[in-house]
Amino acid sequence: MVDGLNVIPVQNLREAAQFLEGEIRIAPMKVDLQKLFEHKSDDEHDFSEVKGQENVKRALEIAAAGGHNVILIGPPGTGKSMAGETAGDHLPPLTLNEALETTKIHSIVGLLKSGQALVTQRPFRAPHHTASDAGLLGGNINPTPGEISIAHNGVLFLDELPEFKRSVAGDDAAAARRRHRHHFARGGHDDFPQSIHADCGDESYARRKMPGESKSSPREIQNYLGRISGPLLDRIDLHIEVPAVKFREMSSAQPGESSAQIRERVIAARKLQTARFAGKPKVTCNARMGARELKSFCELDDATRDLLKHAMTEYNLSARAYDRILKVSRTIADLAAAEKISSEHISEAIQFPLPRPAVVGLT
Ligand SMILES: Nc1ncnc2c1ncn2[C@@H]1O[C@H](COP(=O)(O)OP(=O)(O)OP(=O)(O)O)[C@@H](O)[C@H]1O
Ligand SMILES: [Mg+2]
Repeated sequence: MVDGLNVIPVQNLREAAQFLEGEIRIAPMKVDLQKLFEHKSDDEHDFSEVKGQENVKRALEIAAAGGHNVILIGPPGTGKSMAGETAGDHLPPLTLNEALETTKIHSIVGLLKSGQALVTQRPFRAPHHTASDAGLLGGNINPTPGEISIAHNGVLFLDELPEFKRSVAGDDAAAARRRHRHHFARGGHDDFPQSIHADCGDESYARRKMPGESKSSPREIQNYLGRISGPLLDRIDLHIEVPAVKFREMSSAQPGESSAQIRERVIAARKLQTARFAGKPKVTCNARMGARELKSFCELDDATRDLLKHAMTEYNLSARAYDRILKVSRTIADLAAAEKISSEHISEAIQFPLPRPAVVGLT
């Protein structure tokens, strides 16, 4: 798999000797990387089966395109779990570097199948909310990667997010990360990488809702969000409300766009990001931009800046929320192949429900 190396496969030393003596000819072995990393789906579902929910689909496309994390909130049976489970299908193929990183982790936890040399598909991990701290964050006595690390370069799907113990999901994410790093430092290992492309939270806040009632009241949403810690919510790039599906949409025979069609656009947007962040190995997508990248790649003209300033005051947003909006806008611009972020891109980014300051203040 390494570029520029000629690999001659031999069965035994005799063959090697014969080859070196020029007695036999053996063609160099070739691995078709593109083919190796081609997307294979073993899902029973395709995204085209999710009816209606255009906003949700658009948001999940943006999430995949920029590597943003996502929380889905809405009444029971509206397709949150369904959409979350298929969201990984939008992601671009793994790069060789990503594959090597993920392979290392999977190899440590014994997840490689016998004979498997490389993880070639993005991981999709959906741990149950009863999973232990060690199972999710990694072990402490015998350092092993947890679900969060195993999902590296793929999807970590936390269905029914508020059910997860606060020490795991409700904690300040940065504190969890520090603790995680600490465990591994103690064990003498390198840090296990653990960035996550899309966290899909899911919920059950409206169990007592009357049948047929579709929109969740702001109070219900607040009650629900109150069960998730503010610092965690503030770190989620895209907050998406998933309303009840209208009968007309549900009964429509028209299939939606397939995961493969969406993936094409995602791949195009990722190509722009790869070029943009060339020479910055840590920044692989818009979601991972730091202060420096935000400054150089998310410049706004005056009118656009005014719009964002207005939203900031109107919604009483934190500085972190400001950065999130910029990153999401950059991704929306990339999906439109636009070099500059325009007010149109910002307007779409601020349309996703934002963490409500009252709720964030609760924790
Ligand atoms: N938008 C949709 N399009 C097609 N089928 C849907 C949609 N929403 C729900 N369904 C059907 O309803 C079932 C339940 O949906 P799903 O489990 O995704 O709901 P949910 O939003 O996760 O609910 P809960 O809050 O109870 O977990 C799905 O398996 C699917 O058959
Ligand atoms: Mg569900």
